[in-house]
Amino acid sequence: MSGLNRIIISIVLVILGLTGSAMGWPWNQDMVDQPSLKPQERPLSPPPNTVPVQGKAPQMNRLEAAEKLRNPVPPTPESLERGKRLFAIYCALCHGKDARGNGPVAKKFVPPPNLTLELFKQRTDGYLYGTITNGGALMPSQAENLSPTERWDVVNYLRSLQGP
Ligand code: HEC
Repeated sequence: MSGLNRIIISIVLVILGLTGSAMGWPWNQDMVDQPSLKPQERPLSPPPNTVPVQGKAPQMNRLEAAEKLRNPVPPTPESLERGKRLFAIYCALCHGKDARGNGPVAKKFVPPPNLTLELFKQRTDGYLYGTITNGGALMPSQAENLSPTERWDVVNYLRSLQGP
């Protein structure tokens, strides 16, 4: 290849490279032009006459929850296993691993009651769920930490700690 050809090819390559990075070839934008939501765009409103499958749960306090909510998650070994893991992360710090109110934070905060007592066994699943969701008089809400299904898993696990 002659020296001139080399120079011409080099110049062409440089120009291609520069324009390519400066403005982008049409195909460079292919992935950008798609119907997905872009940053700062409003979320799409759901189609009419549909309900969200995993949407926001209706707000209700624990007395309403106690009456209206039925536990949709059967206490399978899998659910109990998930509940156990989540209880250890989000509840045991105050309530203790066995829910008897002896967690490490209990000494610095308000000691929580022993949840294996008859009083708490008598509570409905919905009430326990409502307590996890909204918190109690002093207990902080755990709704940010646990999805609805996870809350039911924790309820199931708490039941297993309470015994038959
Ligand atoms: C920061 C400490 C803290 C954490 C974390 C916490 N609790 Fe509590 N919980 C308390 C205290 C204190 C009480 C008693 C006072 C009250 O009801 O607010 C309580 C009360 C309860 C009660 C009794 C409600 C009643 O009156 O029948 C239940 C059930 C309960 N907690 C479950 C849970 C579960 C399940 C978790 C984890 C998902 C959890 N708590 C996380 C501190 C905590």
